[in-house]
Amino acid sequence: LPMRVDIISIFPEYFAPLDVSLIGKARRKGILDIRVHQLRDWTHDVHRTVDDTPYGGGPGMVMKPEPWSEAIDAVVGDAEAVPRLVVPTPSGRPFTQEVALEYAKEPWLLFAPARYEGIDARVVAEYGSRLRVDEVGIGDYVLAGGEAAVLVIVEAVGRLLPGVLGNAGSVADDSFAPGAMASLVEGPVYTKPPVWRGHEVPPILLSGNHGAIARWRRDEALRRTAATRPELLARLGRQNLDKRDLEV
Ligand code: ADE
Repeated sequence: LPMRVDIISIFPEYFAPLDVSLIGKARRKGILDIRVHQLRDWTHDVHRTVDDTPYGGGPGMVMKPEPWSEAIDAVVGDAEAVPRLVVPTPSGRPFTQEVALEYAKEPWLLFAPARYEGIDARVVAEYGSRLRVDEVGIGDYVLAGGEAAVLVIVEAVGRLLPGVLGNAGSVADDSFAPGAMASLVEGPVYTKPPVWRGHEVPPILLSGNHGAIARWRRDEALRRTAATRPELLARLGRQNLDKRDLEV
């Protein structure tokens, strides 16, 4: 059975990239069943209004609860299975590779990306008692809406589904994936030609010595992590470092 993904948004056209490349192919192969819905289809006024002014004052507009609840109820329907509801917001739990791996095990995800200042908080309160609701942030910056966050999450989760990547090893080798390289970023990669504009490929990669190559890659990953993500290295802890690591 494909993983089902529903997305409710006032900009369904924002999700056209999900027809492209890896995720597009996964959909055509029947691995991913992605359905995009227009939130305004669940409004009842001529202007198809989805927002209103915030109680308590302040800038911007807040998304009204009624269109969201009608849309979510319609999408969830009376199926005995229920989706996990994912609400992107910069104030949510950080979306990490660990969360992506968790979502990749779910049969059904429902995304509720907001525009404006967010969705009336009673929507999360209401559905929190009926299904699992996750408010997730993709990073410490503010987007104009949750749509781009949904694209990020669907791509990170979709590539983990069985049959989506050609080479299963590439998932195990990912930066942040659990295992020997856990919470290290990846080092540099090279392809032909062996010399390009005077720059040589590190000779060890041409040596055929797989043990030495693995060691070199780990050293490069450690060096790059120390340079760009020192907080990851600090979190790694001594138990995840071997004697050789400590010399790098
Ligand atoms: N909506 C706006 N900014 C966001 C962020 N950083 N993550 C998730 N959703 C968002």
